[in-house]
Amino acid sequence: MDLTGDQQIFLIGFMGVGKTYLGEKLANQLEKDFYDVDREIEQHAKLDVNDIFKLKGEKTFREIESKILKNWDKMGIISTGGGIVELPENRKIFQSKKTIWLNPPWQIIKSRLLNSYRPLVLERSEDELYKLWYNRQDLYRECADIEFTKSEINDLLNLLS
Ligand code: S3P
Repeated sequence: MDLTGDQQIFLIGFMGVGKTYLGEKLANQLEKDFYDVDREIEQHAKLDVNDIFKLKGEKTFREIESKILKNWDKMGIISTGGGIVELPENRKIFQSKKTIWLNPPWQIIKSRLLNSYRPLVLERSEDELYKLWYNRQDLYRECADIEFTKSEINDLLNLLS
């Protein structure tokens, strides 16, 4: 994958796949800027993600998320929220961009999620989380140019080289 020059490289994948962790490292290695769509949503709404869900609901969150993605103009490595692939218009946008799907095995994701404090995870059972992950696999696949199934930055750099 050609990663040189000014361009947008999107990272997609479920919660806990390491989009921020690997995204920051990748940006650092490639000397690019790093962005996170969730942070832009928070600035736009002047609320954090959990409060947007609590106070305004998921539909409003998805509307803001979609609007921000549609108008995205900054170059660099861009991490996205795990549910951004839910809306068909967002999937269409990813199909026209460079998009990397971070997809380590479910067992790894599960242990990371269960060991982290995420209100949106805490309110779901393990079974519900698995179903959400399972149902989104085809959506991520539809969007991605390339799938990364490991966890280390060096493996990602090798895959992309
Ligand atoms: C969501 C994932 C979150 C955030 C929001 C909804 C989801 O992002 O956008 O809580 O529906 O999977 P991360 O994948 O960065 O945790």
